[in-house]
Amino acid sequence: MYDFKPDPGLDTAERYRQLSDAADALTAGEPDPVANMANVAALIWEFLPGLNWAGFYRMGKSASGADELVLGPFVGRPACIRIPLGQGVCGVAASTRETQLVEDVHAFPGHIACDAASRSELVVPVVRDGETIAVIDLDSPEPARFTNKDASGLEKLARLLSARI
Ligand code: SME
Repeated sequence: MYDFKPDPGLDTAERYRQLSDAADALTAGEPDPVANMANVAALIWEFLPGLNWAGFYRMGKSASGADELVLGPFVGRPACIRIPLGQGVCGVAASTRETQLVEDVHAFPGHIACDAASRSELVVPVVRDGETIAVIDLDSPEPARFTNKDASGLEKLARLLSARI
């Protein structure tokens, strides 16, 4: 049995440090990317309060052979399966390889609403050898749920995962 739980009262930086340590321990030595993404989505859900969706989109191919994001392991409500690069918060993070911290999703041009309850969103690209291989997507029903501390904590997790998913 795995029993990774955040200590109560952690500040944001320490919360992400413990999340990354747990993700490191759970994915070390496991070569299956889907298993690792599934466990990390579950860990994010355990460690970060105030989320309504947490998970991965992986780089895949459209029917015509173009690169596009395809839904991966997640916790939350069923979500849109395919997102073209450059579209929505996830598609912009994937194509620019830059974190997207969105305080108000309704103000983000082209935001893709998978769960109508979502109000703010944080998307971090997972980059390997200069290419986006996936994005980590967090949604919250709270406006402005995410800060720069969340962004830097999730970016560290993405760097750890780049060789493991
Ligand atoms: N809101 C995202 C789509 C994915 S869902 O939030 C799970 C976007 O605009 O790319």
